[in-house]
Amino acid sequence: MSTGKLAGRVAIITGSGGGLGAECARVLASHGASIAVVDINGDAAESVAESLRSAGSQALGIRTDVSSEEDVHAMVARVKERFGRIDVLHNNAAVLDAEQRQRDRDLCNLDMAAWDRAIAVNLRGAVLCTKHVVPVMLEQSKGSVIFATSGLGMQGDMSLSGYATSKAALMMLPKLVAAQYGKRGIRGNAVQIGLAPQHPLPDALLDIMRDNHCTPELGTPRQIADVVAFLASDESSFVTGTTLVADGGFSSHTPSLVEMRKLFEQMGRTGM
Ligand SMILES: NC(=O)c1ccc[n+]([C@@H]2O[C@H](COP(=O)([O-])OP(=O)(O)OC[C@H]3O[C@@H](n4cnc5c(N)ncnc54)[C@H](O)[C@@H]3O)[C@@H](O)[C@H]2O)c1
Repeated sequence: MSTGKLAGRVAIITGSGGGLGAECARVLASHGASIAVVDINGDAAESVAESLRSAGSQALGIRTDVSSEEDVHAMVARVKERFGRIDVLHNNAAVLDAEQRQRDRDLCNLDMAAWDRAIAVNLRGAVLCTKHVVPVMLEQSKGSVIFATSGLGMQGDMSLSGYATSKAALMMLPKLVAAQYGKRGIRGNAVQIGLAPQHPLPDALLDIMRDNHCTPELGTPRQIADVVAFLASDESSFVTGTTLVADGGFSSHTPSLVEMRKLFEQMGRTGM
């Protein structure tokens, strides 16, 4: 019997067939939670669930398209039936594959099908999962709902217009959860994630991003999963309605910081 900080808790993690979601599944399981590994890729979800079971945790893989209310309704019913309760919902799923990223461009060159997909999966999906999970949490008078957001939802950039808009809207959802259900024991928070690359990216882009983080390196899945585990657990019981920034300082500095750092280096100044 686990004595971890999530012992006896049940967590649904969407988009956990790979990437950061799979790491969140491993870390929350290591703290004692039973995990519903939810992904549109059913084989990937089952494979992560199987690896958790092999490591001694309780886990269920479920193929779900979070943009479909029918799928989400059935998924929540299955988790409730299997585990009897739901304590944590981590709305992590997002459509981020290479084809989507090539079509979700600047506003003048935006493929509206890609825009619709970004909003449907990233935003509608999180709303649907919250809509169907919170009633279960209310029966228990306790629950933590977490939303995965991004710096792109806070600051303008060159591309990914649909993605950025969906992530900006997601920052409103923890406030709604907190305001609407907080008095009945439900907390809502978002994590604004810096770059913890899960897809191949050009070296030049990685260099720009690394220069703009205030940490020696870009993020790792474990660093993000540790923050999710904090928000999932009672360690954060007085934290609700907020967006916790875990981005290596990416959004914390002046726009001129990178150029200033280079200038200081040229001048032989240290401490930058
Ligand atoms: N990795 C980063 O650097 C980074 C930075 C900022 C924010 N984020 C956010 O973190 C989350 C995870 O990102 P990632 O890098 O691991 O992405 P990823 O592409 O590796 O994983 C996303 C997962 O979501 C699943 N998915 C896609 N559409 C779905 C649908 N309709 N229904 C259910 N599942 C679906 C995919 O199959 C995949 O397993 C996302 O919300 C992303 O926006 C990531």
